[in-house]
Amino acid sequence: MVISLNEPLDMHLHLREGRMLDIVAPYSALTFSGALVMPNLVPPLTTKEAVLKYKSQIVEAGGNDKFVPYMTLFFRSDYTYEFLASVKEQIVAIKLYPAGITTNSEEGVSGFDIGELAPVLDAMSDLRIPLCIHGETDGFVMDREAEFIPIYRKIAENFPNLKIIMEHITTKEAVAALEDFDNLYATITLHHLYITLDDVAGGLLQPHLFCKPIAKRPEDRAALLEAALQAHPKVMFGSDSAPHPKETKEAPGCAAGVFTAPIALQALAQLFDNHGALDRLQTFVSDNARRIYGINPPKKEVLLEKSLYLVPEIYEATVVPMFAGQSLEWRVVGAQ
Ligand code: NCD
Ligand code: ZN
Repeated sequence: MVISLNEPLDMHLHLREGRMLDIVAPYSALTFSGALVMPNLVPPLTTKEAVLKYKSQIVEAGGNDKFVPYMTLFFRSDYTYEFLASVKEQIVAIKLYPAGITTNSEEGVSGFDIGELAPVLDAMSDLRIPLCIHGETDGFVMDREAEFIPIYRKIAENFPNLKIIMEHITTKEAVAALEDFDNLYATITLHHLYITLDDVAGGLLQPHLFCKPIAKRPEDRAALLEAALQAHPKVMFGSDSAPHPKETKEAPGCAAGVFTAPIALQALAQLFDNHGALDRLQTFVSDNARRIYGINPPKKEVLLEKSLYLVPEIYEATVVPMFAGQSLEWRVVGAQ
């Protein structure tokens, strides 16, 4: 059996810089038509010049003219209206991180004083720039996302014309919040559709499945699966593929992030197939994002065939993917 996907989109992707960018970018560029690129570099992307320079590095590293990096800016509460108006054409969204909550987020927001954030959020509303949020408090690790929901609600209520994307949701509470506000959307990763905390820490510790937000309970995964498999109109695929060198994953103080970009479509096809939902995959992996973000990615048809695919143990002796050394039931047989 062969299926075709048109213009697959990965609406949450970490591509890094330097050698890691060179290693990982071609995989996303091969099978995706575009990706929303995260700005948590060191230092974070906060200027137009830095965004443009990074974009050209991605295009060069990707080596595929049918792949668009949709750029984001790292949220700061001191951006001026004039600055945002001048950078608007270069970006598709602004990403807000709570300070210190994940990799390279130290310069993020502390306190969530809506009054302090209001000028920038008003400007973004006015300029129609969507706001992507890593929604976690600094509370107990399993409760961080659920504890953040009131903040999502407050922002959604106070800025009704601002499109807010709850990034990489992991809880049934976040899925439920989608129904309460017209301007609230979400991305769901591949790994949070497959794993729970048990897969990370229930047996021998699995550093390559350790990520932020941490995978949660079976009922949370079930809620995410239900939303993804029905291609809920407010939900998009965002892999949150977050490569780290093997030695920083297989170490005390393991870095957070699961590397899924090269195997994402294959594993999604397997999941949707196993749940009898292959007819919804196109909507989940492309159509919803096109509509929500109003983007028009380059034409690309990706063919997937139902036959065994052995996932590499490691890429370029550097980065270990999810499902390393295991077989997936679907493989990519064409992309053009
Ligand atoms: C991401 C990274 O490594 O940049 N890590 C992760 O666990 N997801 C950052 C993020 O999206 O939280
Ligand atoms: Zn991320």
